[in-house]
Amino acid sequence: MGFQVDPKYFDYAASAPPWQGAVDEYCEISKSFYANASSIHQQGKATKQKLLELKKEFCDLLHFYDGRLLLTATGSEANNTIIEGHLNKYPKGKILMAMDVHDSMWYASRKHLKSLKLFSPEKSGHYNLKKFVKALDADISIVCVNHVSNETGAIQPIVEIAQLCDERNVKLMVDGMQSVGHIPVNMDEIPCTYYTISGHKFGSVKGAAGVLMRDENFEPLIMGGKQEWGKRAGTEDVAAVASMVKALKRSLEVMADESKRLRQLKNELVQHFEDFPEFVINSSEPDLPGLLSVSFPGFSGREIVGALSLSGFSVSTGSACHANEMEPSRIILSMGRTDREAIGSVRISMGIGTTDVSVKELIEKIIELVR
Ligand SMILES: Cc1ncc(COP(=O)(O)O)c(C=O)c1O
Repeated sequence: MGFQVDPKYFDYAASAPPWQGAVDEYCEISKSFYANASSIHQQGKATKQKLLELKKEFCDLLHFYDGRLLLTATGSEANNTIIEGHLNKYPKGKILMAMDVHDSMWYASRKHLKSLKLFSPEKSGHYNLKKFVKALDADISIVCVNHVSNETGAIQPIVEIAQLCDERNVKLMVDGMQSVGHIPVNMDEIPCTYYTISGHKFGSVKGAAGVLMRDENFEPLIMGGKQEWGKRAGTEDVAAVASMVKALKRSLEVMADESKRLRQLKNELVQHFEDFPEFVINSSEPDLPGLLSVSFPGFSGREIVGALSLSGFSVSTGSACHANEMEPSRIILSMGRTDREAIGSVRISMGIGTTDVSVKELIEKIIELVR
């Protein structure tokens, strides 16, 4: 890493610590490419050139050759850009949305309830393709789904979903925030329209995110400049994009070994929790090797998070945006769990700084709290 990450940090799905190389790259590019990429002098042109090269490098790493990367500052902005932009372009459009999507998709669509149809995942957290096809009415104009669930780590059958949409000429938006940098993503095999990404989920500095897009038929969310071919006004953060490229390269380099290591750590957590029949494991394979959702019915996930925090452990109640709310997790409920199970859910997400020792300590502390 280059710096010490606290082994008691178990909230990688909310934000991964940045790779040292990604931080260094941010500083380097900030110093050498400080001109505005839209300026027409030599330095502006050089910054623009650098930006285009970096975008291409990023797309190539994900085998994305038949579209372009639209930059945004956050993943939430990327998701809002497409949902809002699609419905502004096609006011009669209809969305089919999975119920386990992140709040940034969920709340963007809440503004358009009349245009919204929902489908829920199975008890395992995965989408059922037969049910998906049944829900895909002829008047649906865009489908919005996860590649990987941010709360359970469930890996969805995204190639099949994309093919089903492609065959029917329906646009597909995939939230890839929890997949890129964690599992292999080959955009050449996923014929979706939009694929949203966020750099800080895989060790970039914050402020770099975007949409890989094959279709540009949407209205811009942010106006007032010609950046990003008029689809998103605002000066591009070239240094953040450079950091994101470095972070993706580093994540891909370690992915195979880290996946094995994290899967073992996760198995250890599961084995210990399975000794308690009252605990409910919400994650099932295929899923992210380093993410585990577990429910402690009768307890509040928020209180567990608070108590663990006093002992120096950082875990999360599902989506971080819900950290101050007592509401049952919408995502865990969508899998058919009870209110008690959804209120008592905790997300443990691991990464490069997690160790055997910190996992053992976490298990001991959790069992002490909930026995
Ligand atoms: C699946 C998913 N989508 C979207 C987001 C939002 O990304 P950002 O934090 O970059 O706005 C997150 C972050 O938690 C996420 O996990």
